[in-house]
Amino acid sequence: MLLDMGKITEAAKYISSKLNKTPQFCVILGSGLGAFADHLEEKIEIHFFEIPHFPESTVAGHRGKLIIGTLKGISVVVLQGRLHYYEGYTMDQVVFPLRCMLYLNIPNLIVTNAAGSVQADYKPGDLMIIRDHIKLHGDSPLRGMNIDDFGPRFNDMSDPYAREIRALAKECGKNLGIELKEGVYYYMTGPSYETASEVKAINILGAHVVGMSTVPEVIVAAHGGMKVMGLSCITNMGTGLLDQVIGHEEVIKAGELVEEKFIRLLQTIISRWSGL
Ligand code: HPA
Repeated sequence: MLLDMGKITEAAKYISSKLNKTPQFCVILGSGLGAFADHLEEKIEIHFFEIPHFPESTVAGHRGKLIIGTLKGISVVVLQGRLHYYEGYTMDQVVFPLRCMLYLNIPNLIVTNAAGSVQADYKPGDLMIIRDHIKLHGDSPLRGMNIDDFGPRFNDMSDPYAREIRALAKECGKNLGIELKEGVYYYMTGPSYETASEVKAINILGAHVVGMSTVPEVIVAAHGGMKVMGLSCITNMGTGLLDQVIGHEEVIKAGELVEEKFIRLLQTIISRWSGL
């Protein structure tokens, strides 16, 4: 698969035509977490389908809009809805929006998701700062021709979720009285939820939560030198930890229940981070 720089350039230029300055942050909102964007000021909303070559999100709970706005004067661009590998997109398509953000020279990325817990002490409603991830799935968004303007052929992954930002996020949580876990996110391509044996294996491998997103975008962001923070909202216990089944409606509902603390936390982190 060849990276189509022509398409990325065209899409990014379209987005750029709506901006009056380079945003400091890109925020990707996961399932059930879209309400963060409702609180922005000076908002401009663009549907994914309006942007040349932008793939469209097909999942319930993902709204498929790019929202440009400000938060206490800080310029942000929000992807309300994202693209997943399980929707049938190639990895290149999944990370297409992120590559546009890199093209626009946006320096910071906050990536959020809904995730299942793979161990007893991470419960629905908990928020987890992502310390690191595990991806054993073979495909990579960086497979194929390397674009040296974005980053090197073999890129470092020793600190993809910046240590200093994790520390800042934890401090913000403490100040706000919001308990934050810090752990490892395991990437599964889905769309099936895991078997009980997979959940057990993922836990043994050292992860705390499991989900079907985030990692492709973070790999591309790390390759391109963006500073990244990841935040998981735990929406359910992984298969086998409780005697019950998992459904997408439950995941969306749990996301909505943490909405208020999630939004307060993100707003505080962005405000502090922009002053670094
Ligand atoms: N597994 C995978 N992805 C998820 C889950 C889960 O249990 N919950 C939310 N996204």
